[in-house]
Amino acid sequence: MIIFDQTHNTFTLNTKNTSYQMKVTEFGHLLHLYYGEKITDRDVSYLIPNVIRSHESNPSEVGANRVYSLCAYPQEFSSNDAGDYRISSIEVVNTDGSYAFVGKYRSHKIYKGKYRLSTLPTLFAADNEDVETLEIELQDEVTGVSVTLYYGVFAEKDVITRAVKLTNGDKGELRLQKIMSASVDFMTDDFDILHFFGHHYYERRPERQHLNHGVFEIGSTRGSSGHFHNPFAVLCAPEATETNGDAYGFLLMYSGNFELSAEVDGYSQTRVALGINHKQFEFKLAVGESFEAPEAVLTYSKDGFSTLSHNFHNIFRNNACDSKFVNSERPVILNSWEPFRFTFDEEKLLKTAELGKRLGADLFVLDDGWFGQGDFARDHEKAGLGDWTEDPKKLPNGLKGLADKLHAMGLKFGLWFEPEMVNERSNLYKAHPDWCLKVPDRAPSRSRHQLCLDLSRPDVCEYLISAINAVLDQGIIDYVKWDYNRYVCDVYSTYYPQDRQGEIYHRYILGLYRILDGIVKTHPDILFEGCSGGGGRFDGAMLCYHPQIWCSDNTDAQSRLTVQYGTSFAYPVSTMGAHVSACPNKKTKRVFSWETRAAVAMHGTFGYELDPAKMTDEELDACFKQTEIYRKNQRLIFGGDYYRLSAPNDGDIFSAWEFVSKDKSNALVFAVTEDISILDKNYYVHIKGLDPDRNYKVNGDLTLSGKALDKIGLLIPHTVPPFSTFVFELTAE
Ligand code: GLA
Repeated sequence: MIIFDQTHNTFTLNTKNTSYQMKVTEFGHLLHLYYGEKITDRDVSYLIPNVIRSHESNPSEVGANRVYSLCAYPQEFSSNDAGDYRISSIEVVNTDGSYAFVGKYRSHKIYKGKYRLSTLPTLFAADNEDVETLEIELQDEVTGVSVTLYYGVFAEKDVITRAVKLTNGDKGELRLQKIMSASVDFMTDDFDILHFFGHHYYERRPERQHLNHGVFEIGSTRGSSGHFHNPFAVLCAPEATETNGDAYGFLLMYSGNFELSAEVDGYSQTRVALGINHKQFEFKLAVGESFEAPEAVLTYSKDGFSTLSHNFHNIFRNNACDSKFVNSERPVILNSWEPFRFTFDEEKLLKTAELGKRLGADLFVLDDGWFGQGDFARDHEKAGLGDWTEDPKKLPNGLKGLADKLHAMGLKFGLWFEPEMVNERSNLYKAHPDWCLKVPDRAPSRSRHQLCLDLSRPDVCEYLISAINAVLDQGIIDYVKWDYNRYVCDVYSTYYPQDRQGEIYHRYILGLYRILDGIVKTHPDILFEGCSGGGGRFDGAMLCYHPQIWCSDNTDAQSRLTVQYGTSFAYPVSTMGAHVSACPNKKTKRVFSWETRAAVAMHGTFGYELDPAKMTDEELDACFKQTEIYRKNQRLIFGGDYYRLSAPNDGDIFSAWEFVSKDKSNALVFAVTEDISILDKNYYVHIKGLDPDRNYKVNGDLTLSGKALDKIGLLIPHTVPPFSTFVFELTAE
């Protein structure tokens, strides 16, 4: 899996279908030689041309050799202020005020199993899974500062992870201003980049563009991974499609500020780098102190985006979160937010929950509004956040009274929290006004009337762990929705001296992981769902804690088709919170059939977000049947290979997607049309991933070969009203 070739001084990491190669030069620089389809060659350094790049610097130790240039050669972890002018992997201010860092090979280790980081969540090797780690130590010969590059090789899953730990030498204090988790060089250009942008209600919309000369960059400086860009992108051949062409996935396991950039230089060589965003980032390290950069997850597919997504799905389904819920059946949820907002009492909740059983719900979630008392009661957005005890006005019998009654009805009980936030109108703020992020002498900005607690402070983290655990330790809660409804600004902590304020953005995220460890990991019987104003913190690191994350506050079926489509490029359907909501939709005012809403919500952890008291008996019965369809197929939906069969909003006239069991004996296909009645045209949906040589029964009726289902496809009649839904169940004979 990991080969160190002593003759050529190369490291080759092999997965089932891919190879990744590096070489230590005679001067100790670590070059990146190759990432792509599997090769057996032990040294492909011939790809570096033997040409003089005029004007480029040549390190002094190479003597008269004018070819050897750090800027022309492909680097594994690029240096700083030493003649590589492309995106650097590192920026430091050394004790003497200089900015130079040149990492040279010192040692390496290869071992079975997967490395872990001590401060940040990482992917892990599943039981009995064959995973290997390579650690390479590079050191700057002058300052003694070293970086350990970590590589985790998940051979069967075609995934390679990377992470970096920097350790200061013995020269004195070091100021770390930038460190990338991974950077990959290509000797060529001609790539497209596919990235996922958006905003609240409009998350992870794919956008593809050609990489031209210069730097392309996405990122977040909002304190969270954010709605605006996901910490994930695909570098691909311009001709790459769902089923063909080179595609490289780069994903950062981090929930805070990130940057992901791609540079095509004047020699038409390409570098992709990703890591913590370097805005307002400066970490001081004393002699011998270390800093860990978050993990990056890389995968390559020669067969386009479907395989690339399968690789990410397989790893996130098995190697991110150790919750027992990850691979078990998830409850069908009925959530109180869209129907009731802040206005409810125990009676109303119980009536709703009772009717929820007629929808097939297993778990009732009491969303926002259950906490705070008196003047600080959470009857609106302006009060209560931080006071995590129930409001006796709404819940006279307490959370326990409500929970007991729900449990007696045979329902599970879920509760909403927003641990990281505080309203000024709360007891918590009154007691600890200094516990929120706030720049001295400036009043902090509010967002949704709330302030961010200063999670860089250990005392705030410990308080939150005990306050939330006090509710959870009652043993009456089965599910928690962990929300986060603003972006961070006013980033200053009075807990730290003024020369450490550049650490606060990152220390906030370390604090977040600390409280997640202290709350989530200590409650293995509770199902946790992440959330951030919908899908504003949908990232790989959050998936280490939450088996599922609410995808978007936009529950309009048509909008969700695109949100879920974009999300699926990296994240499995089993992680996407998706609910059927009432129509006209609260946000868009659009109306869709129950069938269409259910089909779209089956592209995720199915549930409801409506008031069943407003539904007719027929509607309740119809929804119950949809819930049953979901329940019957949940294993296939969560565990099968997922295929995008269309590109919604990209000219395709219907949205179609598919789940195929790993043994290819079953498949479930959904198609939702747009307004296609106007064109008198034939539409076919081509079914992927089947065994071409087997015959499949379609909805227990027609029999077709896997090949015909792919090449000819299934007919979608155009004489149907807009947003009609088709479901095809395929069973191999
Ligand atoms: C966020 C969430 C919603 C809901 C509200 C409650 O917007 O995304 O689902 O929980 O907060 O305030």
